[in-house]
Amino acid sequence: MLAHLLHLEGVESIVLEARSREYVEGRVRAGVLEHGTVDLMRQAGVGERLEREALRHDGIELSFGGRRRRIDLRELTGKSITVYAQHEVIKDLIAARFSAGGIILFEVEDVAPRGFESESPRLHFKRGGELHELVCDFVAGCDGSHGVCRPSIPAGALTHYERTYPFAWLGILAEAPPSSGELIYTHHEDGFALFSMRSPQITRLYLQCEPDEDIELWPDEKIWEELLRRMTTVDGWAPNVGRVLQKGVTPMRSFVVEPMQHGALFLAGDAAHIVPPTGAKGMNLAIADSLVLSRGIASFYRSGRRDLLEAYSQTCLRRLWRVQRFSWWMTALLHRFDSDNAFDRRRQLAELDYVTSSRAAMTTLAENYVGLPLEL
Ligand code: PHB
Repeated sequence: MLAHLLHLEGVESIVLEARSREYVEGRVRAGVLEHGTVDLMRQAGVGERLEREALRHDGIELSFGGRRRRIDLRELTGKSITVYAQHEVIKDLIAARFSAGGIILFEVEDVAPRGFESESPRLHFKRGGELHELVCDFVAGCDGSHGVCRPSIPAGALTHYERTYPFAWLGILAEAPPSSGELIYTHHEDGFALFSMRSPQITRLYLQCEPDEDIELWPDEKIWEELLRRMTTVDGWAPNVGRVLQKGVTPMRSFVVEPMQHGALFLAGDAAHIVPPTGAKGMNLAIADSLVLSRGIASFYRSGRRDLLEAYSQTCLRRLWRVQRFSWWMTALLHRFDSDNAFDRRRQLAELDYVTSSRAAMTTLAENYVGLPLEL
């Protein structure tokens, strides 16, 4: 996205990707786009397939005590969310880069950012067995939480903020038509569950599990049994069951580094921050960072100004911390915490009741869920 936005501003870039094109275009990740993310994709000319194929959702449901309650996002905020898989966004962006003559090098190895504290940043990498050096003005570390960019910044230059949660999500992709048109976040005394989808044929489901859960201990029948037990509501609603196409465990973590920049190296997306998936914010945050960074870089080339670049970290972090707060809050609202006592459990149910009945509280949830403005 950053490479594409820079291209629209007339700035040249090269993307170095460790994986193959097939891998990044097929890997199942998140699926919810905020209203502002969709607007940005449209304005950037990469919203055409999304327009045709994505599913617009005007509400979500929260389920607890066996009953579902709807939050009408559109009525409360005038905005919606869009369900469109992250790897579809990636396919559209790769296609846009290639059709504009952009350069993406796949399957590069041993990438090492160098000299970003000096006037001549460089990237060393290996491709097809050969060593290369790429000289540039700026390096954008968009390489995820396990990437090489953040650890290449000297120890002591960054402050880490972190919270881990005592659970994870076991997720499946099922060959079953979604039995509801909207996402359903379920609180159950035995743990959280989430009903989502990818298309009119494919349902996406998650189940709160142990942080170190062994997927081998979860045959498909056991997953369905647990999903149905947690999700079935008193009116008889339940997800449709189908063949399990994929399954995996997603860890839960809140993480931020400050600042998001060191010299000419700028961190964006998961390289700088992780949110638990409960708020559906990960990809949206990465795209928000890329917009701020593209503007900073573009203004530098247009007028020699460095002020937007210098403010990059501060601009991103102000919005990021609000999104961290929301993702943490959604997580706390909906999950089972083994450390909770009977008082905490009653309080959690009272909060769910409040959040799904007070217009003020529903509006608070809705405005965060559809996405805070990209510019605060
Ligand atoms: C998903 O569809 O994968 C999904 C939806 C909502 C979330 C997280 C994941 O909060």
